[in-house]
Amino acid sequence: MRAGIWGIGTYVPEQIITNKDLEKTLDTNDEWIRSRTGIVERRIAEDHIDTSHMSIAAAKEAMKDADIEADELDLILVATVTPDQAFPTVSAMVQKELGAVNAASMDISAACAGFMYGMITAKQFIETGDYRHILVIGTEKLSKFIDWNDRNTAVLFGDGSGAVVMGPVSDDKGILSFELGSDGTGGDHIRLDDYIKMNGREVFKFAVRQMGESSLHVVEKAGLTKDDVDFLIPHQANIRIMEAARQRLDLPLERMSHTVDRYGNTSSASIPLSLAHELSENKIKDGDTLVMVGFGAGLVWGAVAMVWGK
Ligand code: UT7
Repeated sequence: MRAGIWGIGTYVPEQIITNKDLEKTLDTNDEWIRSRTGIVERRIAEDHIDTSHMSIAAAKEAMKDADIEADELDLILVATVTPDQAFPTVSAMVQKELGAVNAASMDISAACAGFMYGMITAKQFIETGDYRHILVIGTEKLSKFIDWNDRNTAVLFGDGSGAVVMGPVSDDKGILSFELGSDGTGGDHIRLDDYIKMNGREVFKFAVRQMGESSLHVVEKAGLTKDDVDFLIPHQANIRIMEAARQRLDLPLERMSHTVDRYGNTSSASIPLSLAHELSENKIKDGDTLVMVGFGAGLVWGAVAMVWGK
């Protein structure tokens, strides 16, 4: 039995903060941000909207898309490093709000690779046959932890949520292979004390190498070659990092998802937000082979190769 995606939903806050807006309060400029990161604008949640609210909105849309009812959910996995509070978990808050009375719930903390960790955890439960319907949400309100006076980080991040319902799919669809990894020796390069603090250059070097290697590994593990890949959905941290992964797979520009311009780096939400965007643009078709790959604080990483469709 293979695990795949049955439905998808998203939520992004209405408030848009452009690079030009940031120029007013920070020693930065639109040209620097665009050329070094690919970011043009980002969504920042209003004070009264927390991670759980965005998660619930995305989850409801995903449930509708998958055409399943709340009481059919067996497990809710929420990947986030910006929960409303340490507990109750965001996943339990989602479970309550959906009325998912038969679902277990658990938060997963793997920073920007969180959605990959979530999907791959869900895959295990589905493929053993223990669970049938699992909601996986990547969701962050990073703006809570941005030092708005630190130009090294303030220009990079945004808020948002993406959710998928996963379940069993036919033998020629779903997740073909995965890779997860961590290297805690790089933990100091990006950390959350009171605010996000980052050694950007070190994270950049790690990410360029890891995104390309993990993408290739999952293609090989699936018994495929680069030529078989139809679409790449990389974690949207920086266009230059994404480009490195694309080049390792020898994919043309139009076959890589690119939403960092509109959302910035939304950590665990970036892969599902990008997937939903490409689906809405009809860029991904039934039977397409996708590679998704993420990396983040820890340092950690994760990737999957999958065939789209049920
Ligand atoms: O999801 C994981 C989260 N983290 C990441 O993905 C971050 C990975 N790293 C990056 O994306 C890049 O390293 C950054 C975008 C953070 C920085 O780009 P860079 O090309 O590595 O720049 P840099 O850190 O080497 O800085 C170059 C210069 C510095 O000035 P000096 O020392 O050369 O005079 C910085 O102070 O750019 C300066 N700078 C800025 N200038 C204008 C740094 N931030 C800004 C800014 N506006 N916002």
